[in-house]
Amino acid sequence: METLIMSVPLSPQCASRLTAHGQGHLLRCLAGAGPDYAESLESLDPALLASLFKGEGLASPPDLTSLEPPPVVPAGANAAARAAGERALRAGQVAVVLVAGGQGTRLGSDQPKGCFPVGPVSGATLYQIHAEKVLALGRKHGKTPVFLIMTSSATDAATRDFFSEHGHFGLNPADVWFFRQGEMPAVDRQTGRILLEAPGKLFTAPDGHGGCLAALSRQGWLDKLAARGVSDLFYFQVDNPLVAIADPVFIGHHILKGSQASSKVILRRDPSEKLGVFARSRGRCHIVEYSDLPAAMGTATAADGSLLFGAGNPAIHLFSVPFLTRAAAGDSLMPYHAAVKKVPFWMEECGHVKPGTENALKFEKFMFDVLPHADPWLLVETPREDEFAPLKNAQGADSPQEVRAALSRLAARWLAAAGIRVPVDPAGHPTAPLEISPLAALEPNDLNPERLRRTDWSIPLHVGPDGNWKEPR
Ligand code: UD1
Repeated sequence: METLIMSVPLSPQCASRLTAHGQGHLLRCLAGAGPDYAESLESLDPALLASLFKGEGLASPPDLTSLEPPPVVPAGANAAARAAGERALRAGQVAVVLVAGGQGTRLGSDQPKGCFPVGPVSGATLYQIHAEKVLALGRKHGKTPVFLIMTSSATDAATRDFFSEHGHFGLNPADVWFFRQGEMPAVDRQTGRILLEAPGKLFTAPDGHGGCLAALSRQGWLDKLAARGVSDLFYFQVDNPLVAIADPVFIGHHILKGSQASSKVILRRDPSEKLGVFARSRGRCHIVEYSDLPAAMGTATAADGSLLFGAGNPAIHLFSVPFLTRAAAGDSLMPYHAAVKKVPFWMEECGHVKPGTENALKFEKFMFDVLPHADPWLLVETPREDEFAPLKNAQGADSPQEVRAALSRLAARWLAAAGIRVPVDPAGHPTAPLEISPLAALEPNDLNPERLRRTDWSIPLHVGPDGNWKEPR
């Protein structure tokens, strides 16, 4: 064993740490491995993995007796909030962060999910839609928010290349800050042994979107934001093209309340919907993930028959930068969540194995676990049809087809709100696909109805970046 350890620069402390925590098998493939492997072993925390395997340091189920429905500010116009939000945008006090560590695996794509085309007429990708909203915010308010994009090892290179190939969608590349989230090893769910992907290569997976907090802090992004005068960071997920990025009314509510963490809320459709659920416990805000939601809580109804815990999580948040800086200093307070997964692995005894059943535990942090540390905090309702249509599955619910239909319906409503009569069926679907470029409008008021009147609605129609109809060739 000693000669093997000597063949690459591995410290004796690391070797004894691994052995002490039952991970001696990792030392046996040092002989043929390169320095990268030794480095990955040095940075492992076998004590942490051992305690996570035992269930220590994992997110604990909520204390049900203390949970109550949280207060939620109703959706709607609010002139004072809008004015405060627009002031903050004009002053460059708001940056936006997109978590984009996920791949389009469930969509049958090995590309980052952000590269998936969802524009019902234009075929614009999720990345294009998000980037153009940020660009449009800059044009509207005179200051382009810094656009932070969190990638993972699986999406980093492809995301950067995609933005480069598309000229950063018109954004100044200096204002697009890519950063990579961390990785976590997975362990065998029976033995707790850390899994290898191949001889001399650990299996690792992204550390969850909660890894955003540590990455923002350790890589210095929070300091850079503060140095630039950014006081608040708008957070959203790559899968939702309807999100109103840096919505001024939401920002204004957050600022006027002096909130440390604010979240948008949509009403849960039914108890089976896969949404996190907001609750208040001992004065603090919590999200209980759908998979942890006890049936009694998920199905309980209020006197009017609506769901008692009706506030669902569209994963749209606004955090004060000083709050995130403080929370990051106590990052170990954010628990890990364990998920049982099928992970192909390599073992000295049997070579490469493709397991037929779930064999591994993966560990992830969730960004919303930072919410209970915020005081004051705030929840603001938003209509689901205006702001939530996530792309999750290849077919059925949350499929590309549903997302494109939601974008078409939204375009029809915006045109109607701008005074243009658009024929729609009782469910709000226009006759043919409709789309509005974010560069033309971030909200209905930005549309110029004089340019958009027409009688033929039978063909796919796109309000292009210049605010005029752009009919597909
Ligand atoms: C998530 C929320 C759920 C919410 C729903 C709304 C969690 C645990 N649950 O569910 O409460 O109601 O969205 O759509 O988040 N990501 C990374 N790095 C990672 C893991 C994920 O960047 O390591 C990103 C993904 O790219 C994606 C987002 O986080 O944009 C959400 O991840 P996903 O696994 O799709 O969450 P859901 O289970 O759909």
